Amino acid sequence: MPAPRRLVVLVSGTGTLLQAVLDAAAEPGYPAAVVAVGADRAGTEGVERARRAGLPTFVEPLAEHPDRASWNRALLDRVRGFGPDVVVGAGFMKVVSPSFLDGLRCPMLNTHPSLLPSFPGAHAVRDALAAGVAVSGATVHRVDAGLDTGPVLGHAEVPVLPGDTETTLHERIKTEERRLLVEVIRRITRADARTAPRQPQT
Ligand code: GAR
Repeated sequence: MPAPRRLVVLVSGTGTLLQAVLDAAAEPGYPAAVVAVGADRAGTEGVERARRAGLPTFVEPLAEHPDRASWNRALLDRVRGFGPDVVVGAGFMKVVSPSFLDGLRCPMLNTHPSLLPSFPGAHAVRDALAAGVAVSGATVHRVDAGLDTGPVLGHAEVPVLPGDTETTLHERIKTEERRLLVEVIRRITRADARTAPRQPQT
């Protein structure tokens, strides 16, 4: 069996999606393993989850850099230092630059709480409720230079129920989103393991 593909996961919040990936990766035969977790701010529960799992962590706050280009370069150095095969934004609330994506030399995935291309951006659940849609959900997609515009790798639909608030709908979406993220990572890392040699670390 090929070695598990190396995931670096980026978080900004509570990290329940990260936890789902950690739990899946603990199962025998899952084709990917989390090798490091990074955040854009200190004190996140996501980074605490990683620490409890004994994983290396890093925090790279935008506010500690003179500009966004400097932050992107620093984040890239941190991520590349762990030799990832795939980078995963799991509730990571910052947009990375095209030069970050070019420099990665591996795919970056993102998970988002709407059925993209509907409701991109930071308030997807609120925007879906305001639009009055009957069905929303989650998307896992490959990150490109746009805001939540990259190729869709998987969708999970979730009905909007009468009386839903942003919190209740988001929680139901996240239940499906965790399952979707685990499955998409399984699919793409399994295919990757069959076709690509491990990226050399430089
Ligand atoms: C998830 O719903 C994720 O899609 C969303 O943040 C939540 C993180 O949950 N990300 C975005 O909205 C990115 N635009 P978690 O911290 O419990 O894993």
